[in-house]
Formats: sequence, structure tokens, C-alpha cells
Amino acid sequence: MTEDRQRTEFPPTPDDLPEDLEQAIRDLKEERNAIILAHYYQESEIQDLADVVGDSLALARAAQNVERDVIAFCGVHFMAETAKILNPDRKVVVPDLEAGCSLADGCPADEFEKFVAEHPDHKVISYINCSAEVKALSDVICTSSNAPRIVKHYKDHPIIFAPDRHLARFVGQQTGRKDMLIWQGACEVHELFSAKGLSKLLMRHPKAEVLAHPECEEAVLEMSDYIGSTTGIIQRAVDSPANTLIIATEEGVFHQIRKLVPDKELIQAPGQDESCACNQCPYMRLNTLEKLYRCLHDLDPEVSVPEGTRKQALIPIEKMLELS
Ligand code: 13P
Ligand code: SF4
Repeated sequence: MTEDRQRTEFPPTPDDLPEDLEQAIRDLKEERNAIILAHYYQESEIQDLADVVGDSLALARAAQNVERDVIAFCGVHFMAETAKILNPDRKVVVPDLEAGCSLADGCPADEFEKFVAEHPDHKVISYINCSAEVKALSDVICTSSNAPRIVKHYKDHPIIFAPDRHLARFVGQQTGRKDMLIWQGACEVHELFSAKGLSKLLMRHPKAEVLAHPECEEAVLEMSDYIGSTTGIIQRAVDSPANTLIIATEEGVFHQIRKLVPDKELIQAPGQDESCACNQCPYMRLNTLEKLYRCLHDLDPEVSVPEGTRKQALIPIEKMLELS
């Protein structure tokens, strides 16, 4: 965890908050000349307040074109860091600096540096769910929506793919690249979806279509009709002829799907433990409306990236944007 993320902010005190929090956030946004970027895994109230709501690629693209002074980033730390890398002269604030990611945390830069050094002839493709330091060690970044395209681009090179082993396996199958060296990380949320539970659920809903994020484990993906990024899942939910959809990703995507196709039945893919809320990312859910208000009010907590790391990390991010 970076020093920044240890600097935990205050929990807002209820009597300190304006009565109409949503309107207060809109007003503060104008006052601060800010833009709110939010990932689909944020609570619905935050998604509805955002200027841009999207998947990791869409948010990186949006961050590339910001003209306002402040970016209030509602997502996890690596996403806000990416916005900062693309916008060194703008203030990037987040509702909660502790909103990390198990994939990013499972790939420490010092260990990754050694791994990369052992394979100097390899192109390093890193999933955007990694720290700025790991990005700085990479040749190109990818997201779940462009990973196959990026891997195909390096068809003549040996490849290191980090840090998600499930996305790596899926992309390897899609592209015929079974030879990639894979960092063995995983998302603690998507790994909890259960293939056994899913097959039981499908017996009760035989006509349902299963839509899954590629961070899920292989047995779940094998039972899925559609595999893609959060944007891809939302789009497929709209386009699918099925009226019942079983969704194997964070439940934040349900909000957009319900707005677009309110008559479809949406069912959460089951977890290993039937009592768990395993389709909620505990890191994403640290962000709340109250904390968003606070961060716009105080312009804190702010995300920072050391300039040397930022410059190095910018190269593979720009490479990804160029190839996407
Ligand atoms: P997307 O890029 O598909 O939005 O995924 C981000 C993520 O963190 C998935 O867990
Ligand atoms: Fe990271 Fe998983 Fe949360 Fe996505 S859902 S931000 S990969 S921990």
C-alpha cells in the first residue's frame, strides 16, 4: 500500500452534511470546476451524479480529455492513479484513499520487477488493475475490453501477462497464445462466484443467459454465454434475446442494465457461500455519497504519483490508448 493510501480520511459526521447531499455535490462540482468520473461498480446514486460512468477503458479515455481543474474519481485507487498519470497538472481527488484492489495489491512492484528482469526478451502486458509502479515496468496496459486485441498486436513476441491469471487464461484461449508467462493474481470478488451454484441456478432458469466478467474462474466462464468487460456485459444484457440474465460480476452494473432494459429479470450469480454478498467489491463500496461530498469540499484526499514513475507509467497507458 502506498504512503498516500495510509493517510485515511475522517468519516463524515452526519450533522456536518447538507440536507440535500446530491444537490450539494452538484453545486460543489461547479464551484470547484470539477468533473466526476465513476466506475459501474459504484453505488447507483454515485453513478447518477457522475459526468462519465464507464468501464476501466472508457474512464481512462475520459481522463485523457479532461478540461476541468479537478477530477473527482469514484472508483478504486489504480483507476484514479491512471487519471492522475494522464493529468499531472490537475488535482485528482477520491472519496476514499483506502479503496484498493486485490489484483493490484497482489502484484507488488519489487517482486514484479524481479520477475520481469528474469525474462528480458518478453513484452510486458499489464492489466490496468495494477499500481502505477507496475505500470511503469510494463510495455503496454490492457483492460478487459481490449486485452485480446493488445495480445494479438504482440504476436511475434514472447509475453508476460500480469496480474490476473483468469483474464490471462481467457485471453490466451481467445488469441491462441498458450505460451504467455502469467502472474498468478486474482480478483477476490470474481473468484468467489461458484460454478456449482451456477449450474444449480441454471436448472431453475434453463432459458437464462449467463453474462460473466473474464476475472471469473474457468469453470464459471465455461458455463457463460457471454464473457466481457462491464461495458460489454451491459451491452449484451440489452442486446440479448433472453429475458432472464444471470450476471457474474459486481452488482453495480445492475443499475445501468435496469435503466436500459427494466423488464428483464436480473439474477446475481451465486457465490461459494450462499450467505455472502460476494458480488459487491468491498473496495469500490468504500466510496459513498458522503465521502464524495467531503472530497469535493476539502479537495482531499488527493491522489499523487511520483513524477519519475508517472512519466514511465504514461508510456504503456498511451500505447494502450493508441492500440484500442
Ligand atoms: P472493467 O474494465 O470491465 O470495468 O473491469 C474493472 C474491474 O475492476 C473488474 O473487476
Ligand atoms: Fe479489484 Fe476485483 Fe474490486 Fe475489480 S472487483 S476493483 S478487480 S477487487
